[in-house]
Amino acid sequence: MMRTQVGIIGAGPAGLMLSHLLALEGISSVVLEAHTRDYVEQRIRAGLMEHFSVELLRQCGVGARMDREGLVHHGIVLRFGGRSHRIPVTDLTGKSMMIYGQHEVVKDLIAARLAAGGQILFEAEAVGIDELHGERPRIRFRQDGREQQIECDIIAGCDGFHGICRPALPLGALTVYDKIYPFGWLGILADVAPSNDELVYANHERGYALLTMRSPSVSRLYLQCAPDEDADAWTDEAIWAELRTRLADDSGFVLQSGPIRQKGVTAMRSYVVEPLRHGRLFLLGDAAHIVPPTGAKGMNLAFADVVVLSRALIDWYRKRNGDGLDSYSATALRRVWKAERFSWWLTSLMHRFEHATPFERRMQAAELDYVTSSRAAMTTLAENYAGLPLG
Ligand code: FAD
Ligand code: DHB
Repeated sequence: MMRTQVGIIGAGPAGLMLSHLLALEGISSVVLEAHTRDYVEQRIRAGLMEHFSVELLRQCGVGARMDREGLVHHGIVLRFGGRSHRIPVTDLTGKSMMIYGQHEVVKDLIAARLAAGGQILFEAEAVGIDELHGERPRIRFRQDGREQQIECDIIAGCDGFHGICRPALPLGALTVYDKIYPFGWLGILADVAPSNDELVYANHERGYALLTMRSPSVSRLYLQCAPDEDADAWTDEAIWAELRTRLADDSGFVLQSGPIRQKGVTAMRSYVVEPLRHGRLFLLGDAAHIVPPTGAKGMNLAFADVVVLSRALIDWYRKRNGDGLDSYSATALRRVWKAERFSWWLTSLMHRFEHATPFERRMQAAELDYVTSSRAAMTTLAENYAGLPLG
């Protein structure tokens, strides 16, 4: 049987960052990943990093390529009623954000772990976790058609929303808080220079649209759609026409179109389980909570959980002090709930709700007006967008 200190399930941003931070402190881990290295390195997901995540990558020595290739952003544009309103995030908060694809972060973390002799087992699917309340919890996994086991001190469930850790817990061990939104996002990746230097969030009567980017020559755009929308039913021309309609403004904004390289539909939900610990299993990132993507918080929250848990583990291994492990769930959840609130609020502000009453529509319009005209309201938005402090 294999043996390590921390058994990590999932090589997404959470699992890889945890393994990296622990290795810097001499704590061993093995990362199990169900998919191939190529698959996790090519999977297009998040793109916007909060100030805290940017600093984290730099401080732990994996920020060099991000600093060369990432795009630093100082504000965002909210567009509604055909008019554009800039929120000057850096002026209001002193913080900036970075556009740098999640798959690039994943590549950098994998390269750093492998260069340091770290163990990431690809195509190794965890199938069960045992002895969570003992001193030697175990992970059962399948690789090359063979079932094997790893014995550890701690198991870190970084296996995303569809992983095995959360469902492995006994019924009643967790309380679930859940909200499903009546729409999804149709996202595209296109080979065309972004039509604006900063992100544009548009509230349009036909539905929300977002213009974001991955590089100076690659745009990423999203359209509010039905939750079960068939992405293949949309021709490229129809997608560009709809984006052009929803992103239009009265100052002559022109949306440049180009070849669409990838498209897909994302469902929208808010979801949190409590607590984030069960015996020697700790849940982190999407395994424990989901936000609708509107506020761009998912990957950032995963990193925040990792920082809280890694500090607790370092205290435990170095000083045999378990206080941090005992308070992990409560500490991480404070930030999680604030990001849940912000993501839910921005989603409510920017989308079209088909069944909203005329009164509710007026409320949304008044809030958009307020948030773009009051410095206090803009600062609240900016502070949450750039990211709240840890703890
Ligand atoms: P994941 O990235 O889901 O990683 C979990 C890993 O575990 C996966 O590699 C999976 O293959 C593996 N796994 C699962 N089950 C097993 C098993 N049984 N055995 C072994 N391995 C297993 N967030 C932001 O911060 N900013 C954004 O701009 C943003 N935009 C987004 C846009 C879209 C369209 C989407 C879908 C998400 C976006 N997010 C964004 C959210 C962000 O992508 C996630 O929150 C982030 O991936 C969470 O990281 P994680 O490591 O917790 O989980
Ligand atoms: C991206 C996605 C978001 O949901 C967001 O709010 C900002 C950026 C992105 O994919 O780049």
